[in-house]
Amino acid sequence: MKIAVLISGSGSNLQAFIDDAACGKLSAEIALVLSNRADAFGLQRAADAGIATAVVDHKAYEKREDFDRAMLDALAPYSVDLVILAGFMRILTPVFISTYSGRLLNIHPSLLPKYTGLHTHQRAIDAGDKWAGATVHFVTEELDGGPPIVQARVPILRDDNVDALAARVLQREHRIYPLAAQWFAQGRLRLDARGAILDGEVLGPGGFQLDEPIS
Ligand code: GRF
Repeated sequence: MKIAVLISGSGSNLQAFIDDAACGKLSAEIALVLSNRADAFGLQRAADAGIATAVVDHKAYEKREDFDRAMLDALAPYSVDLVILAGFMRILTPVFISTYSGRLLNIHPSLLPKYTGLHTHQRAIDAGDKWAGATVHFVTEELDGGPPIVQARVPILRDDNVDALAARVLQREHRIYPLAAQWFAQGRLRLDARGAILDGEVLGPGGFQLDEPIS
C-alpha cells in the first residue's frame, strides 16, 4: 500500500508512521509527504527518512478549491491508496475530499463527537471532563464529522494543563493512527454508506475503543 501524509507542522504523527513502516508494524510505503508550509518540521523528518516531499503553499491561491487542485496535482504522480491528514491545518473542499473519498483519514485530538474544531484540550479541562483522547476518522465534508474508526482515551489529571494533556494524548495518537492505516492496508477497514466498517461490522459512535496501557 502506498500512502501520502499531509502535514502543516511538527509531524510527530508522521514520525509514528515512519517508525511503524520501518519496523514492519505498518505494511505501507510512505510515498510522499506534502506540506502547505515550507517551514514545517515534518518535512525534515521525511527527508531524514528518505521520503519524497512537496510543498504547496496555500497563500499562493486565492480560492480554497484552487489550492486543493494544486495538491491533487502534486499527489497524482504517486498513485497513493490512502491519504493521511496528520496535523494538516487547512480545511479541505469537496474538490479534494471527493477525489479521495473512503481513502482519506484524519486524527482529531478529542473524543469525538465531543469538541470538534480547535482548542480541544482546553475545552475538556474547562468542562471538568475526566477523560480526553484522540479519534481517527474517515474524512467527509462535515468538519471533524466523518465516521470514527478508532479512539483512545487518557485521564485528565488534577491540575492538568494543556501542554501536559496534549503530550499525553499525542502518545496515544501515535499508537492509534498507524493502527487504523494498518487495518486499511490489511483490507479490514472501509467506508460505506452505513459508516466505518471494521472486519465486516459497522463501528459505533467513537469507533473502536482501544483501551490498553501506555507502553
Ligand atoms: C495532533 O494533535 C493532531 O491530533 C492534530 O494536530 C496535531 C498534530 O501534531 N490534528 P503532529 O504535527 O503530528 O505532531
